[in-house]
Amino acid sequence: MKKGDFSFMPDEEYTWVDFETLEKFMRDVMIKIGVPEEDAKIVADVLVTSDKRGIDSHGVGRLMMYYARIKRGQQLPTTNITIIKDNPGTARWDAGNGMGHPVSKKAMQAAIDKAKKNGIGMVVVGNSNHFGIAGYYSLMAAAQGCIGICGTNARPSIAPTWSVEPMLGTNPLTIALPTDWDFPWCADQATSITQRGKIETYARIGKEAIPGWVIDEHGNAATDAPDILDKMLEFKAALTPLGGIGEDLAGYKGYNYATFVEIMSACLTQSNFLQACLGVKDGKFVPYNLGHFFIAIDIESIIDLEEFKKTTGTMLRQLAGAKKAPGADHIYIAGEKEWLAGKERAGKGAPISKETQKQFLQIQQELGLDQYDFGFEVEIDKSATPGW
Ligand SMILES: NC(=O)c1ccc[n+]([C@@H]2O[C@H](COP(=O)([O-])OP(=O)(O)OC[C@H]3O[C@@H](n4cnc5c(N)ncnc54)[C@H](O)[C@@H]3O)[C@@H](O)[C@H]2O)c1
Repeated sequence: MKKGDFSFMPDEEYTWVDFETLEKFMRDVMIKIGVPEEDAKIVADVLVTSDKRGIDSHGVGRLMMYYARIKRGQQLPTTNITIIKDNPGTARWDAGNGMGHPVSKKAMQAAIDKAKKNGIGMVVVGNSNHFGIAGYYSLMAAAQGCIGICGTNARPSIAPTWSVEPMLGTNPLTIALPTDWDFPWCADQATSITQRGKIETYARIGKEAIPGWVIDEHGNAATDAPDILDKMLEFKAALTPLGGIGEDLAGYKGYNYATFVEIMSACLTQSNFLQACLGVKDGKFVPYNLGHFFIAIDIESIIDLEEFKKTTGTMLRQLAGAKKAPGADHIYIAGEKEWLAGKERAGKGAPISKETQKQFLQIQQELGLDQYDFGFEVEIDKSATPGW
């Protein structure tokens, strides 16, 4: 692939399923396992939005993860929000160990509402669960004339600089803002170089992990994808922070950003942090008790919105128009690949991998959702049920 070439197509066997069917299936599964209809619609929308944006790692392919967690009682299908503190500019909520998506959507909207009154708003949420793509919530703010910032902690995977032990989550720190381009600028990214899901994909298609993505227990770069997956479960391999192993490429900067996200998520909300976010204690599944934070800054309270969009757009055009590296085709801005994916996938749907197909069929069978005929040619394999 040329530098700057863009391909969001998965590098493995898949079957396309249209978004309408996927959204209905996600919603029906959620409702069947006890998620109230309004919340189920939000979960379905967040998951399908991820696939629409080409972010297959956090979309409908995660259905089994939520299903398994609810089924074994690790997280609740209902999300009873308790407002612990509420001030003009800030608030702290408790999600009652419910679904991460509905509480996050409501929390970002509350932050935006506060920003519209006070210029800036922030809502933190504790006692919550995996909320999908962080970009969904930051983009809500951008669509309403705000700069949206959000983050969450997650299961321990990143080793701090000079450690080999998974301690921090992949902790996304996501920012979105409106511009005069056709889409918002949206940096929706983890603070690790990569994530477990990508290594799982590499293992499935027989590719080596890129040296520097993962550090083994001896402090070396690990590349054997299936071996990494086993070792990560045993805490004998860890993801590296942005910047990579050691200090030469400033891995400590990613380590510090991941720590900031962990602090904002856990310490403002009294949620679990670091290895307590494993979801397993004394060999038993326990709630993740994650925290999230949502910040909205109302641009109009600082500068005319159209003026801001124009200046930002001009700046981004200058970046995109910079002299290209030899062999490079295109200089992207944040959010552009996801926008291109959206255009490419519109009316087409999402590519569903063989593994996800098996999981869909298993869930469909267990819940008796016979009205769906995906046409998948795979055998249900219950070993696909994740242990996380
Ligand atoms: N809920 C969780 O616990 C959790 C944890 C980690 C990540 N996530 C989500 O996973 C998703 C993927 O995260 P990731 O870090 O693997 O993504 P990634 O490494 O693919 O980076 C994606 C970001 O980089 C931008 N980008 C890509 N190429 C670019 C280029 N050449 N120039 C400029 N910008 C470019 C994209 O527009 C996007 O904003 C995100 O949606 C994130 O929110 C969620």
